[in-house]
Amino acid sequence: MATLNEKKTCSERMENFRRFVWNPETRLFMGRSLINWVWISLYYLAFYVVMTGLFALSIYCLMRTVNPYEPDYQDQLKSPGVTLRPDVYGDRGLRIYYNVSDNKTWEGLVTILRTFLEAYTPAAQHLNINCTSDTYFFQENFDGPNKTKLSCKFTSDMLQNCSGIADPTFGFPEGKPCFIIKMNRIIKFLPGNGTAPRVDCTYVGDESRPLEVDYYPVNGTFNLHYFPYYGKKAQPSYSNPLVAVKFLNITRNVEVKIVCKIIGAGITFDNVHDPYEGKVEFKLKIED
Ligand SMILES: *[C@@H]1O[C@H](CO)[C@@H](O)[C@H](O)[C@H]1NC(C)=O
Ligand SMILES: *[C@@H]1O[C@H](CO)[C@@H](O)[C@H](O)[C@H]1NC(C)=O
Ligand SMILES: *[C@@H]1O[C@H](CO)[C@@H](O)[C@H](O)[C@H]1NC(C)=O
Ligand SMILES: *[C@@H]1O[C@H](CO)[C@@H](O)[C@H](O)[C@H]1NC(C)=O
Ligand SMILES: *[C@@H]1O[C@H](CO)[C@@H](O)[C@H](O)[C@H]1NC(C)=O
Ligand SMILES: *[C@@H]1O[C@H](CO)[C@@H](O)[C@H](O)[C@H]1NC(C)=O
Ligand SMILES: *[C@@H]1O[C@H](CO)[C@@H](O)[C@H](O)[C@H]1NC(C)=O
Ligand SMILES: *[C@@H]1O[C@H](CO)[C@@H](O)[C@H](O)[C@H]1NC(C)=O
Repeated sequence: MATLNEKKTCSERMENFRRFVWNPETRLFMGRSLINWVWISLYYLAFYVVMTGLFALSIYCLMRTVNPYEPDYQDQLKSPGVTLRPDVYGDRGLRIYYNVSDNKTWEGLVTILRTFLEAYTPAAQHLNINCTSDTYFFQENFDGPNKTKLSCKFTSDMLQNCSGIADPTFGFPEGKPCFIIKMNRIIKFLPGNGTAPRVDCTYVGDESRPLEVDYYPVNGTFNLHYFPYYGKKAQPSYSNPLVAVKFLNITRNVEVKIVCKIIGAGITFDNVHDPYEGKVEFKLKIED
């Protein structure tokens, strides 16, 4: 019955607690003397000051080493992705169907091309320079305005018959439509190992079957002077070079599958995990 006797009443507990918080006899506050508490507070104050200092120092050092002109960690992606305009998707990938006799079915496609090429007008490209050399455009220094590097002009007139200038409908109503192929940017990527990479379009699965196609610029090449790309901050006015393909003899009223690959050293198009790496595949059906 000893434990029962030791059971304290509620007021005894309260009294004990009050004495723990402030004991007037020993002058202890929560079991420690006031001077003791001052030392503990000072200790923690100093501790947090040092910790904050270390944190600030490490962030400062990190920012000092980060190069603002290119990301420290880049994707493992070595080969560029490829995109197509007009980019209309069906259930499974790109699917461009239209009817030459029904302008409502192709006006949207033409508008996509026209809107896309607005970034390639002489006015939109006025900050960029004319480049004539057919070699990589290496730039050690920041020769452009505001500590930037220069970028080469790419204007839509370079796409000749697919520029939308002479033929604002891009050949759609004649059943000889133009498509535009763009290679995504990769910082400091040098495609082709000295030879301009080029676009090559074939029928899917039957590469021997001839596909009549005109490429613009000539031979469907991406000129080397658009590479390397030094990043958004170094080249704020950079614009991707383009290649236009004009299909001249697509059989009417049947769906054809076409793949456009980029041929060049360092560009792969056989990555099963990324169907848009180094190539773009699409279905096309021209009705009449
Ligand atoms: C294409 O459009 C014309 C005119 O609207 C129509 O007569 C024709 O049936 C359409 N062709 C197909 C395959 O739908
Ligand atoms: C589209 O076709 C319709 C009928 O043929 C015509 O009235 C209209 O002007 C055409 N629209 C354009 C932009 O050509
Ligand atoms: C660049 O080329 C275009 C067209 O060929 C020409 O009109 C323009 O004057 C040139 N600009 C410079 C700075 O040489
Ligand atoms: C350079 O930067 C200043 C301030 O940000 C800006 O006003 C000016 O237009 C820039 N010059 C060029 C050529 O981009
Ligand atoms: C552009 O189209 C016209 C008319 O179809 C053709 O005569 C010419 O050869 C084409 N230009 C090029 C560079 O293919
Ligand atoms: C690039 O080309 C040079 C000679 O033109 C050759 O020696 C080198 O092996 C090539 N590199 C690659 C990665 O193909
Ligand atoms: C286009 O390719 C052909 C054959 O490969 C070549 O003879 C010609 O010089 C090329 N044209 C240009 C402008 O590169
Ligand atoms: C277009 O292709 C068809 C077969 O798809 C062929 O019979 C025809 O000769 C080709 N036309 C031209 C001008 O090459």
